[in-house]
Amino acid sequence: MKTMLNIALPKGRLGEKVYGMFEKAGFECPSIKENNRKLIFENPQKGVRYFWVKPSDVAIYVEHGAADIGIAGKDILLEYSPDVYELLDLDIGKCRMAVAAKHGFRDSTQKTLRVATKFTNITKDYYAKQGRDIDIIHLNGSIELAPILGLSDVIVDIVETGTTLKENNLEVIETIVPISARLIANKSGFKFKNDKIEELVCELSKQTEGKQ
Ligand code: PRP
Repeated sequence: MKTMLNIALPKGRLGEKVYGMFEKAGFECPSIKENNRKLIFENPQKGVRYFWVKPSDVAIYVEHGAADIGIAGKDILLEYSPDVYELLDLDIGKCRMAVAAKHGFRDSTQKTLRVATKFTNITKDYYAKQGRDIDIIHLNGSIELAPILGLSDVIVDIVETGTTLKENNLEVIETIVPISARLIANKSGFKFKNDKIEELVCELSKQTEGKQ
């Protein structure tokens, strides 16, 4: 029997874009385009099996070997440091991790800075490098509300178009790191299914070349 490559795709618009790249790379699985609520699709002829996974969970599936490879945002890789190989920058899903605050916010270094975020580790590392004392307020979403309601002084969050900040009268005050989608691999899967993964990486890099 042909070895199956198990692939965790992030559910949503980014995942659909990624699937398009995999299809072009010769790893197609036509049944995935059937519009239903199934989460697993396979094409035994091509030896591929795709799963739709919550984007922030992709690295968990890959780290534990439930998927051999997957596509995760650099934000998740920096935040959770999963024990996986990062094989390729797909140059899509581009955004940045940034500090934002209300217009006209003036930081007073005398005071502990209150920072609301979903990305606790990225935030701690960033301010530790600056030797700045902070209090972290961990939120799970709608982070932009925090400075508006006085819950925090600033936020650390993903900024893509900047629309969410603008609509809520906030602005970027510092960029922490650029973010994009990365192809990741399970460490033993990478060893045992190396030929197939290398072939995929080679085909996908042809699609990202010149874009970087
Ligand atoms: C992210 C982020 C911002 C928004 C930025 O939220 O947390 O709220 O996108 O995008 P923009 O700069 O294009 O407006 P997401 O939609 O991922 O959901 P979340 O609220 O669960 O974080």
